[in-house]
Amino acid sequence: MLCPYPSATAQADGKQGLMMFESVNAYAGDPILSLMDTYMQDTRDDKVNLTIGFYYDENGIVPDMAAVKQAKARLFAEPPASPTYLPMDGLPEYRTRVQTLAFGDALADVQARTATVQSLGGSGALKVGADFIKRYFPQSQVWVSNPTWENHHAIFKGAGFAVNTYRYYSAETKELDFAGMLEDLNQLPARSVVLLHPCCHNPTGIDLTAQQWQQVIGVIAERELLPFFDMAYQGFGQGLQTDTLAIALMAKTGLPFLLSHSFSKIFSLYSERVGALSVVCENPAIAHNVQGQLKFTVRSNYSTPPAHGARLVNLVLSDAGLTQQWQQELTDMRNRMQAMRSGLVKQLSEHRPDRDFGYLQRQQGMFSYSGLTPQQVARLKDEFGVYMISSGRVCIAGLNNTNLERTAIAIAAVL
Ligand code: LMR
Repeated sequence: MLCPYPSATAQADGKQGLMMFESVNAYAGDPILSLMDTYMQDTRDDKVNLTIGFYYDENGIVPDMAAVKQAKARLFAEPPASPTYLPMDGLPEYRTRVQTLAFGDALADVQARTATVQSLGGSGALKVGADFIKRYFPQSQVWVSNPTWENHHAIFKGAGFAVNTYRYYSAETKELDFAGMLEDLNQLPARSVVLLHPCCHNPTGIDLTAQQWQQVIGVIAERELLPFFDMAYQGFGQGLQTDTLAIALMAKTGLPFLLSHSFSKIFSLYSERVGALSVVCENPAIAHNVQGQLKFTVRSNYSTPPAHGARLVNLVLSDAGLTQQWQQELTDMRNRMQAMRSGLVKQLSEHRPDRDFGYLQRQQGMFSYSGLTPQQVARLKDEFGVYMISSGRVCIAGLNNTNLERTAIAIAAVL
């Protein structure tokens, strides 16, 4: 009988066996996650981690938020009755709470025509959304800001889309290139998918004003584009409600759009992978069908979502006391990041009075685009143990009163 596995006999003969995976390239690593690994291996005591988007407190610890901790204790004391699978689209009450959080005052404008599924963090929401739109808009291309979170490119390419960029950041002014952004959006064919950050733009920290959002939404409506908002930092910019301004404006138009929502940072629930995808449709009947197709997308990717993280978020958002406590903690996080940002600007201005750092102060949220070159970033790592993404993105939440001055001195030295 012919051996179905020729490699085994071939190798016994001392010849080359059948190669299956020889064309698999070595993984170059992820610009964010792999850098975090390098940071962890650095043995210097005074190293500073400004890499990944983790919220660290003043002690450099990723906090277990008190409201979430209480929710965990309650869940532990009263475990849910049925340990079976969640529905494909997740915990029903969680989905409703998440809609309330995302749409705020605009909820009434969209709720009946919105399909929402629980997702594996914000990335999972993007992936389910990308797979879903690829099925219905196979000819469409995706447009992301230049720059954007690196994984946006990977996720949409992975779903089979061509991914292009629209102008966003001007390296020359270190500010938003709004004219360029509008000009680019104004060229797009109908049904192009436009990825937008409603608040705390990652990586630049540069957000649009209300008036600028009105203009962008005007272009979206006129050119019949499909906006996909990615909201991973709601509440880290100006507040839970203010940060959803773009979404509220979009909701008022009555037009369709997608929204991915992450609770990794704002509930400090990174490893639970908890988020949501909402698709706002034209009317409730369409939303019903879309909900079904999102379920299918989930089923064919990973079947059903995990329960624990969603139960925690649902518990916090369904209990008035816990919600209030969580909101206060979120406010404290935002205020701490704002203080660190101002502190960095102050220190940099003292050490480099020849430079204007006003642009850093005008950015908001968890990240700052420092304007440092990859070479300067490499020097910071090698000579000072200060780690940031090679694009010059700084995670402001990695700063605290212990490492702030040292970091500013290091940056001032390489500038
Ligand atoms: C970041 O941008 O650092 C975070 O969103 C973490 C990640 O997954 O990249």
